[in-house]
Amino acid sequence: MPLIEWNNAFSVGVQKIDEEHRKFFSITNKLFDSMQGAQDREVVGFVLKELQQYVVYHFKAEESLMKMYNYPNMNAHKQEHEGAIKRVNKLVLDYERGLQTVDIELLKFLSDWIQNHILQIDRKYIPYVRGKV
Ligand code: FEO
Repeated sequence: MPLIEWNNAFSVGVQKIDEEHRKFFSITNKLFDSMQGAQDREVVGFVLKELQQYVVYHFKAEESLMKMYNYPNMNAHKQEHEGAIKRVNKLVLDYERGLQTVDIELLKFLSDWIQNHILQIDRKYIPYVRGKV
């Protein structure tokens, strides 16, 4: 059973962004599976790197969208993204140094963060992009 499941409540009404958010769910579930399967550190590290790269990719895409449609809260939203990138970078570095494990607490934090960010931050730009993309 996956840790985190997509449903329409997470839709921002932009197909490309919804697909990218689904990918976050998928990577988080992959981390969950790798933890449950007690896979070796290298495999877990590979998934963490995938998360790190996808975070940067998705945030850039979303920020381009907000810029294109002159979303007024873009700067505050960008700051949220920058904070998340720093946290993920630290997570990957700490993991590589053996200071961080991927456990259920970390995965719950990650899945809560993703869900809350989409529901409480991302969805606020819906009125500005709806019907335009
Ligand atoms: Fe979809 Fe603001 O991240």
